[in-house]
Amino acid sequence: MKEILGIDVGATGIKGAIVNVEEGKLITDRIKYPTPKPATPQSMTEVMKKLVEDFNWKGKPIGMGFPAIIKDGVALSASNIDDTWLDFPIVGFLNKKLKSPINVINDADAAGMAEQKFGGDKENKGLVILLTLGTGIGSAVFSNGVLIPNTELGHLKWKESVVEKYISNHARETKDLSYKTWGKELNKVLNHLEFVLSPDHIIIGGGISKKFHKYEEYIDCSATVVPAKMLNNAGIVGAALAAPKK
Ligand code: BGC
Repeated sequence: MKEILGIDVGATGIKGAIVNVEEGKLITDRIKYPTPKPATPQSMTEVMKKLVEDFNWKGKPIGMGFPAIIKDGVALSASNIDDTWLDFPIVGFLNKKLKSPINVINDADAAGMAEQKFGGDKENKGLVILLTLGTGIGSAVFSNGVLIPNTELGHLKWKESVVEKYISNHARETKDLSYKTWGKELNKVLNHLEFVLSPDHIIIGGGISKKFHKYEEYIDCSATVVPAKMLNNAGIVGAALAAPKK
């Protein structure tokens, strides 16, 4: 099956589109709904159901990226969503509620899978880190194209808290940081990641990847640092790649 409904669940929005998974392209417009507050399993599932109806997709395979650690079909963290997701059997629950075969992986891992497959040559070689800078920070780490799933580099301890509280796009906006101030802090975090993981290549994803030219000059790393090529579609395309194979 080459057409799959990809759903990219975020702390701010829930987006979906039908994806041609052989070409890595959206073949419909994206539909986006705000993430309900509180973002509980019940309220979020209602939004997912709407997407399944919008695309007339009941019974057909769905791939989903979700903003939490996902292991063996269970959500094991809940940083920017409601705590009731903790230890929640997300895959079994959504299978029943959406009446479709579904698989769920971490949202940043999904974006990373899409970049690895469709983003270009360089992205496949050596140790690659993709960071999605949005409401939180997601990470995907690949060694020669093989994903090490569920890394949470946005939750490395940093100053008084964790990395995502300082260099997510949300932090930049709410603290009204200039690109210079924020870009320099981002550079410090990237330098720290370089020391810890020795990456060859770092990809900046999330909506802020479109504004890369505004903070590029503050980035000084040994690894190459580039914006994600698939920009905001990586999450949906990568989600679709994770759908159950039939
Ligand atoms: C979560 C990650 C997620 C990231 C981006 C973080 O707060 O802990 O699992 O990938 O946000 O949504």
